[in-house]
Amino acid sequence: MTKPCAIVLLSWIVVIAAATPVVDGFAPTGRNEGPREIKNWFRKLPHMKQKVTELHFYLHDIVSGSNPTNIPIVVPNTSAQSPTYFGLMAAIDDPLTEGPRPDSPIVGRAQGLFGSTSLDKIAYHMTLSFVFTTGKYKGSTLSIVGHNPFMDEYRELPIIGGSGVFRLARGTALLNTLTFNSTSGDAVVEYDVVVLHY
Ligand SMILES: *[C@@H]1O[C@H](CO)[C@@H](O)[C@H](O)[C@H]1NC(C)=O
Ligand SMILES: *[C@@H]1O[C@H](CO)[C@@H](O)[C@H](O)[C@H]1NC(C)=O
Repeated sequence: MTKPCAIVLLSWIVVIAAATPVVDGFAPTGRNEGPREIKNWFRKLPHMKQKVTELHFYLHDIVSGSNPTNIPIVVPNTSAQSPTYFGLMAAIDDPLTEGPRPDSPIVGRAQGLFGSTSLDKIAYHMTLSFVFTTGKYKGSTLSIVGHNPFMDEYRELPIIGGSGVFRLARGTALLNTLTFNSTSGDAVVEYDVVVLHY
């Protein structure tokens, strides 16, 4: 009695899986490691060698228009009077591209939150994930937490971790604003990333 039931259930799962449309952008990210793979990885850790990987890409922060990738989530009513927008918080899901042009191939997204946390100059506290979507880093992430004095030529943000290929990563992301439109607020930021991982 239980066997036919199981077969029916299984075939339904197959039918449902086959019928589930892979909506672009909602597809699985490409890594599928379960608890066993993760535990094995940590067991092998003492024998693994650390390596240095350099990444280079551009972040497109779009505030204007009908499809912003940066939206304010907290706008204190004192922010408008603050020259540094102190207290403002925003969420981003910014595309990361190979080259500086907006139509350059996408390598991932920068997803996270940032807040304006400085009283005397424009500076953000950022907590971001780089979510890579192509090539050998597909499905892997890097976690960035740090201080971003937006008007400085170079800003160094610590990379404090990662997942997938970048499990236990540490490193530095160096940010340099390529273009900033002060009317629209849109920006293209160059990222030079150096990361230590296994
Ligand atoms: C901010 O909001 C509070 C509460 O609504 C109000 O009393 C205050 O006048 C507002 N301040 C400004 C600068 O708009
Ligand atoms: C800056 O943004 C404004 C408003 O969206 C736009 O009209 C202008 O063309 C932009 N400037 C550049 C250099 O892209």
